Amino acid sequence: MTPPALLLQPDALTLGLETSCDETSAAILRGGREIVALLTATQDDLHRVFGGVVPEVASRRHVEVITRLVQDCLEAAGVGFPDLRLLAVTQGPGLIGSLLVGVSAAKGYALVTGLPLAAVNHLEGHLMAAFLHYPGEPPAAQDLYPTLGLIASGGHSDLVLMKAPGEYQTVGQTKDDAGGEALDKAARRLGLGFPGGPALEKAAQGGNPAAVAFPRPEAGHFDYSFSGLKTSLVRHLEKHGEPADDQARADVAASYQQAVVDTLLRGLRRAAKNYHVKQLVLGGGVSANQVLRRAFLSLAEDLGLAGAVPPLSLCTDNAAMIAAAGHLQATRRGPDPLDFDVYSVMPLPE
Ligand code: KG4
Ligand code: ZN
Repeated sequence: MTPPALLLQPDALTLGLETSCDETSAAILRGGREIVALLTATQDDLHRVFGGVVPEVASRRHVEVITRLVQDCLEAAGVGFPDLRLLAVTQGPGLIGSLLVGVSAAKGYALVTGLPLAAVNHLEGHLMAAFLHYPGEPPAAQDLYPTLGLIASGGHSDLVLMKAPGEYQTVGQTKDDAGGEALDKAARRLGLGFPGGPALEKAAQGGNPAAVAFPRPEAGHFDYSFSGLKTSLVRHLEKHGEPADDQARADVAASYQQAVVDTLLRGLRRAAKNYHVKQLVLGGGVSANQVLRRAFLSLAEDLGLAGAVPPLSLCTDNAAMIAAAGHLQATRRGPDPLDFDVYSVMPLPE
């Protein structure tokens, strides 16, 4: 049985924890929107030699750093556990071993302190990132509903209709690879390094996005498919050989990146028109990409809609967005009983 909605003061402090993949992150949020402290320990160096995230290695590192990270975060915010009113932690989707570390830590803190705990959907966090701000800054964007969200990350290319705060309907998703995955695989194939998305963006600088005619794959309706795009890169390299110099490599990278961006935004445009939304919001690691950010904002303008993008520091996985989603859901439907599980696949709350 779900406990009753939690009543929180406007300035209530939430401690958020995020360990769904390879970032260990802790944050203190005031009033569900204002970031008081945010610390993220990245594991990029650990996974770089493997060319991708190794789940067992990721969970072990989470265990090593999480307690210290939480202490440092409380210290950075100048608060202690008695000042907090809520705990929030990522429940899924993500790597099971990684999720378990954050959830076990959060349940431990909840048991010891008696604080209520909210189990958070990671994707809801990504949808909240554009609405967060730091002390003294004005709130980043307005709430306008219905809003349409595009979550572009390593595991997801989701179009999410937000009917009201905290109410979601996934109206489109990928049938195979996600947009971020397509960028990561291309970067690996081109020998650009890890993580692939930022490496490809860097390599694409100065490149001609129209140099190579990569396809914009159709999956019908508002769904996506990116596996064919990756294959077309492999075919292109087989036919024309490896890029001869930096300019040729930049041309291939820029053309490929443009194909991913165009495909993501084609679905967004269709769904925005279909559902008559008032606002577009972008989230997920790929939203750090400048080409995507610019094209997203110009699409919003073109459609006469508000457009919200997260600050660069909140695009990739972080605990501030988890604290925000936890604050929202705890005030809507109450905190969660402590016997909840973790999930590799998990639908957004309806
Ligand atoms: O949201 P996120 O940090 O983790 C997941 O939940 O998956 O997203 C990671 C994804 C990776 O595919 C990474 O290559 C991509 O986001 N990414 C980028 C950029 N920064 C991160 N893709 C394109 N351009 C970037 N600047
Ligand atoms: Zn993520």
